[in-house]
Amino acid sequence: MTAQVWCNARVATMLPGAPAPYGLIDQACIAVEGGTIAWVGPHAELPEAWRRGAIEHDVGGALITPGLIDCHTHLVWGGDRAREFELRLQGASYEDIARAGGGIVSTVKATREASEDELLAQARRRLRALMQDGVTTVEIKSGYGLSEEAEAKCLRVARRLGQAEGVSVRTTFLGAHALPPEYAGHSDAYIDEVVRMLPALHGAGLVDAVDAFCERIGFSVEQTRRVFDAAKALGLPVKLHAEQLSDSAGTQLAASYRALSCDHLEWLSEDGARAMARSGTVAVLLPGAFYFLRDTRVPPIELLRRHGVPMAVSTDCNPGTSPCTSLLLMLNMACTLFRLTPEEALAGATRHAAQALGLDDRGVLSTGRCADFVVWDVKHPAELSYAFGASPRLATVVEGQVR
Ligand code: NIG
Ligand code: FE
Repeated sequence: MTAQVWCNARVATMLPGAPAPYGLIDQACIAVEGGTIAWVGPHAELPEAWRRGAIEHDVGGALITPGLIDCHTHLVWGGDRAREFELRLQGASYEDIARAGGGIVSTVKATREASEDELLAQARRRLRALMQDGVTTVEIKSGYGLSEEAEAKCLRVARRLGQAEGVSVRTTFLGAHALPPEYAGHSDAYIDEVVRMLPALHGAGLVDAVDAFCERIGFSVEQTRRVFDAAKALGLPVKLHAEQLSDSAGTQLAASYRALSCDHLEWLSEDGARAMARSGTVAVLLPGAFYFLRDTRVPPIELLRRHGVPMAVSTDCNPGTSPCTSLLLMLNMACTLFRLTPEEALAGATRHAAQALGLDDRGVLSTGRCADFVVWDVKHPAELSYAFGASPRLATVVEGQVR
């Protein structure tokens, strides 16, 4: 395959410890061979090998960043929860609605009733919206099926989406998301079922990681431990919806399994942050859910910084707490609501998001990494966090191919 050179660019490599903020290189080139980055650096230093014979793409001074990575979504679901939104605006809380059998369980009913093709069509629209913002890798959780058959259906949709749309999809099994109605009052028996269905789903090639919702309206630390043990037995990495509505100390448990990430974290304690730092667990911040639930307790950003816990930023795209399909909007909200710097926010949707998925081949632009990147009509990377409501994306390149 002929080499390609992307030139006349400002490249934000997002490499840690680079001399300039964002790893910025002016008047830069990226040489690509096959689906991989062969060289990145200032044009003046471009090796001879790529000066002749390579296909040249002059981007006219535009900014290039790594392809964005949305590392926490529940993209596949049936129905919607607009009525629940109305109820919450009349004063009902998210937890009240869940306890009354609404919330996640109402989406489970609609998801079970939908055909695989219907779910695919709905989720495809959401994925395309994410791609408008330059998303090239997306994590998709199950968790609205809650039976082996319905979880498999949703995970197959996730896999098909990746193939159909030419983006990388990482699947996460979230069987322990809520208690399905047929197990009402029998949550331990449902966890038995989750533990039973995981090897079959994994055997079908549908699971890249395992997640759980550890919360008073979700599952206990002990129940979460059983799910994590089942994941560990299969060699699967774990993640956790942790400390979203209360401090349940799920983070400490997740860290003891070297979880890839703990997500939400509004109620994270110092002990939890310390445990994450020790285990190299990423803190995935979800400002869309914070905003949409009209939460007032901000995740302890200063604590995470102090303990050196890497922070990712994601949409949490889901029907109940964050019906949002713009990762750039999340960068803006991570800055305005959580006071991240624009550089932290962009690292949160690139380098640290890759880490939250256990992927070391992307999230930064350097030799040997995937040639996944986005060309933006902006002068400075802070603009990606600053402006909201419109995407300045000019082009997306996935594995060296323009999409
Ligand atoms: O990430 N907290 C649990 N899961 C989702 C919400 C799911 C729903 O309400 O449908 C979340 O916020
Ligand atoms: Fe979530």
